[in-house]
Amino acid sequence: MKSLLQAQERQKEIYIAGFSGQHPVVPTNHIALQKEAEASSSRKGYTYIAGGAGSQDTVQNNRLGFQEWKIVPRMLKDVSQRDISIELFGRKLASPILAAPVGALDLVHPEADLAVAKACAALGVPMIFSNQASYPMESCAALMKDQPRWFQLYWSKSDALVKSFLMRAEACACDAIVVTLDTTMLGWRPWDLDLGHLPFSYATGLGQYISDPVFLDLIGDPKKAAKVETEGGFSFTKLLNYLRLVSNYKGPGGFGKNFRSKLPVTAVRKFTDIYARPSISWKELAWLKQQTKLPILLKGILHPEDAELALEHGVDGIIVSNHGGRQVGGAISSIAALPSVVKQIGDQIPVLMDSGVRDGGDIFKALALGAKAVCIGRPYAYGLTIAGAEGVHSVLQNLIAEFELTMGLSGCKNIQEIDASYLVKS
Ligand code: FNR
Repeated sequence: MKSLLQAQERQKEIYIAGFSGQHPVVPTNHIALQKEAEASSSRKGYTYIAGGAGSQDTVQNNRLGFQEWKIVPRMLKDVSQRDISIELFGRKLASPILAAPVGALDLVHPEADLAVAKACAALGVPMIFSNQASYPMESCAALMKDQPRWFQLYWSKSDALVKSFLMRAEACACDAIVVTLDTTMLGWRPWDLDLGHLPFSYATGLGQYISDPVFLDLIGDPKKAAKVETEGGFSFTKLLNYLRLVSNYKGPGGFGKNFRSKLPVTAVRKFTDIYARPSISWKELAWLKQQTKLPILLKGILHPEDAELALEHGVDGIIVSNHGGRQVGGAISSIAALPSVVKQIGDQIPVLMDSGVRDGGDIFKALALGAKAVCIGRPYAYGLTIAGAEGVHSVLQNLIAEFELTMGLSGCKNIQEIDASYLVKS
């Protein structure tokens, strides 16, 4: 897999291939990308990735929010040499882009997180391992060698499990912990609800759990599991779904043994019981900080007073995010929330953002409004759907190239030169 190309090299590569009649398998335009992913995916897979909460208006707000800001390019500023690298938590990064944590990716590609890890490592893009990944963090870390990665935590009801995840993240050489705060319960997602489909019920996205000794202990005795396949009467659909659940299960034991023992069903039930803790409040952060020596970022902050509280509670960074519009319908867009958060806390800790970032212009706008970096979510999941690791690589490489060109063509040589004077709001 190719390492990161400069923008003009990437353009050249595409145009030269075009001369031989080859067009990019993964579209460079985000609308075409999403359409292609929809065509390449099962209905349930696409719905889970693309869908949002409520009337989908937070998803739309995320795009509208970016469109409200316009870039005003400046001329004659010698942009022949461009540097898009940044420094975050003492580490130099090739670009201001990270791969957001995205769970349950084996819904759309069997290589799931492994493919993402390969692509990110090739480009020097930090991958934020999802708490709901399909493969254990150790497998991804092994593929990434010395390339940067972080771990995202959902704060489980089990303290022991939280500790175990954090210990594993440290052992995997993660550089930071991202604690996602906005998913203490699953949002109301009509697209999934209308299909009656939740990936986790089929043991999808449980990679971190079923590889964890604490979780396996918590499962207890699978013989006590109810006979799900006959609960409420037998049906072929139930049996098929049970077979799907057992074959998705990547934990210990083979298919036959797990089919009989019902271990996968018990694991799913235990996961559902403990994956999140809606009771968490600011005061528990002190405990979390004691459990790890890694920097902690809070993901899901949208209100400036929450940003201030994060600072007061000694966290190391913030990710302004509405979870891609998947949690609260009718919510403020992340890009609209960003300026007030940045204003509140200034330069004291890094502020990152995600939700709705779809092209190089969006990245430029987020940085101009004070974000140190952005996280990319759905676009790389669409790339994965279309073409596995190569698809993720293309999407990320294209975004980085487009950002570099946008920066240069707007009159900035490096990230430090990007500021709000390059934007107007209309
Ligand atoms: C997510 N996101 C997410 N966030 C997180 O902290 N842990 C997770 O496991 C997941 N899983 C997940 C699955 C899917 C299918 C999506 C689309 C998103 C949210 C993700 O990290 C990020 O905040 C959003 O993807 C940003 O929105 P856009 O730019 O992708 O629309």
